[in-house]
This record gives sequence, C-alpha cells and structure tokens, in this order.
Amino acid sequence: MELCNGHSRKRKWVVQSSDMAKRTVNPIRRIVDNMKIEPNPNLSTISLSIGDPTIFGNLLPHPNILKAIEESLRSHKNNGYAPAVGQTQARKAIAEYMSVPGAPLTEKDIIITSACSGAIEICLSALANAGDNIVCPRPGFSLYQTIGVSNALDVRFYNLLPEKEWEVDLNNLESQIDEKTKCILVTNPSNPCGSVYSRKHLIDILEVAERHKIPILADEIYAYSVFSGETFYPLASLTTTVPILSCCAISKRFLVPGWRLGWIQIHDRNDVLAEVRKGLYDLATRILGANSVTQGALPKILSETPKEWFDENLRYIEDNAKLAMDRLSKVNGLEPIQPRGAMYMMVGIDTEVLGTIESDIHFTEQLLANKSVFCLPGTCFKYPNFFRIVLTVPPHMIQEACSRIKEFCEEVIAIS
Ligand SMILES: Cc1ncc(COP(=O)(O)O)c(C=O)c1O
Repeated sequence: MELCNGHSRKRKWVVQSSDMAKRTVNPIRRIVDNMKIEPNPNLSTISLSIGDPTIFGNLLPHPNILKAIEESLRSHKNNGYAPAVGQTQARKAIAEYMSVPGAPLTEKDIIITSACSGAIEICLSALANAGDNIVCPRPGFSLYQTIGVSNALDVRFYNLLPEKEWEVDLNNLESQIDEKTKCILVTNPSNPCGSVYSRKHLIDILEVAERHKIPILADEIYAYSVFSGETFYPLASLTTTVPILSCCAISKRFLVPGWRLGWIQIHDRNDVLAEVRKGLYDLATRILGANSVTQGALPKILSETPKEWFDENLRYIEDNAKLAMDRLSKVNGLEPIQPRGAMYMMVGIDTEVLGTIESDIHFTEQLLANKSVFCLPGTCFKYPNFFRIVLTVPPHMIQEACSRIKEFCEEVIAIS
C-alpha cells in the first residue's frame, strides 16, 4: 500500500533486540546449557556446582535475621519506594558496620543496590564508556565479563597463580593496563578460588593501581568469610590515595541471596571520584532502588546477628574444605588447591595422567554421565583444566562426591 508521503507500509513485523541484549552472555549459562549430558540414572545426583548456600536447607539464616525481616514486613513502613540510593537508616547502618580504622564511611558513601550484582553493574557503568577497558582476574567470577561486554567494554584478564595460592601475577596485571583502562577488578576472598590475600599482597596490588592512577573495583562480597588463622583486610583500609569502590551484599554471609540486598562503598578520601560518585547516584535512579522490605530489616540484620553464628557457618565450610582437600589430594590425576575462605575450591585436572580426558568440560561431562556428580568446569571462569566445587553442601554429600570422583579417575586411568 502506498501512503500519501511516498513511504510504503511494512507488511511484516520485524522487531529486533538491541545490540546490548545480543552482546549479553553469561558464560556459565552458555557452557552449562550446552552440556547435553544426562546423569547416571542409577545414582542420585550430587550438585557441587551452584554458589547458593541455601539450596540444601543445611544452612539457614539466624532467627534474628528472620525476625528482622518479619518485623519490617509487618511494620507497613517498608511497602513503598525507598530513595533510589537506599533508605537513610539502612545506609547509616551499613556505613557503621563496614567502617574500619583507615577506611571510615558515612551514609553518603553508601549506595544500596539490588545485591552485589547490581552494585557491580552500576560501578562498571559509572566508570567506563564503550571502548574503554577493565582488567579482571582469571580465573574469576564471570559476571564482570557479562556486564563488561554488555556495556561494550573491552574486558581484559590478568592471571592468578595457582602455585602461589592464586595470588595476582603482578607483571601480567600491569601488562594489561593502558590509557583506556578504567578500573582494576579485585575479588578477595575469591570466587572461584577460595583464596584470601595477605596484607602484603593487597598492598602490592594497590601499588600497581597507584602507579597507573587507576581506581579499583573491589568485589568484597565474601568480606570476613575467612577460615581459622586467616585475616580479611578490606582493600580500602590499606590505602589513603587509591580510590576504591567496594561492592558487597548480605547474600552469602547472611545466607539470604534471594533477598537481593547489596551495596557500593565509595572510598574516596581525596575527592578523585567526585564525578563518578554523582554518576553512581544517577545510575541508581534507573531502577528506583532496591527492595525496601529488606532495607527496612537491614539495621537489625547487621546489628543483631551474633558473631558466633558466622563463626559456626565458617567452621562448617572449613571442615568441608578439609574433607575435600584430604580426599581429593590423594586422587591420582587431580590437584586441589587449598582454599582459605569464601565457599569454593578449585581442583586441577592432569590430562596427561587422565589420558582419555580431553578437557575440563569433557571431565565434568563424563563425571556427571558416569557418577552423577556435577561440578563447574574451569572454562566457566576462563581457566581450563580445573573444576570448581562448592563447599556449602552437607558433609555427607562432599564425602560421597569425593568417593565417586576418586572412582571415576581410577576408572579413567584404567582404560587410558
Ligand atoms: C564474587 C561474587 N561477586 C558477586 C556475586 C553476586 O552476588 P549477588 O547474589 O549478591 O548478586 C557473586 C555470586 O556468586 C560472587 O561470587
């Protein structure tokens, strides 16, 4: 049909997604969804793959956490919108809870977000334009890449060293940096490695940032989740000059990832980030803020969850880590790396010893097909020839999974 202005009317609907949507890929989903392998029907499936401490019902939130959310819900004070950057009381409570000597915070330095993912998304969007680059750890949490590529950033990687308990290869980090680098991402304690950096190592990382005058985005969602004898140092407490955006959440440590409450801590003693701070505030308005019921509960969640409860949960995870280390270090063809915190462990695969195994993806597929144990291949974290196990599952499952992994490796070696 010809319209009077000469344009012809389109006859078919053609509605395309944006370039941003097309660029957005979660590597874990892509790799896992492509694994077409079914578990062995004769064995119950043991999943050591999901970083959600709540799925087996063995780790529950403390009663005071439940009481706080119930009170918040029933108060009818938290049914409406909160300010986009978060409720003032909740921001104050976070500032108080997270302030440490050397890194003081006020509520103006806190932006409440939809969990730690939301915090990372806002930070990366505030720091970098399309075509800029960010440097991320490898192995590392895949969300940095997902958000970075979605935002048309050049996502670069620096190596972590398994032989040095996953410390940063500082020369390699420095070699990734150029004039378009907008931030260095540091995950401590680490997913997927379970590593916890020493004070000295964190200072070494800060020196690189200082030399190049590049801010750090510190993913500290596992802050204080460290095993006995270890210390967590908030990165911002070790510098007075390097500006740091620290992202955190109650998801893991308080065992409520579904409550979607996280935050950004702006550590900027010298007003270097004045413009970025405004950007963060503005970007928070894009979704009109995080869940207000959880925000209403937050001051009590932070002040009334006893320290002993955190210690108990950490002991549970540490005991699982010891169990898995003990069992897997005796398996020919595997090399587990000792975790020091968080809730994960990486295990190296020696494909020379395990002759018929071609890769980490092949290993995890065959392990699932033969022994119904599911672990994520290291490729999900850009680190082939490793697999990751989650340490929050009940100990009897870890034990059973390790026995099956051992049997599997022995069977592979026998036919190689
Ligand atoms: C290192 C790291 N950062 C961020 C997140 C995302 O956490 P949230 O559920 O609070 O968005 C996770 C979740 O596994 C994580 O391991």
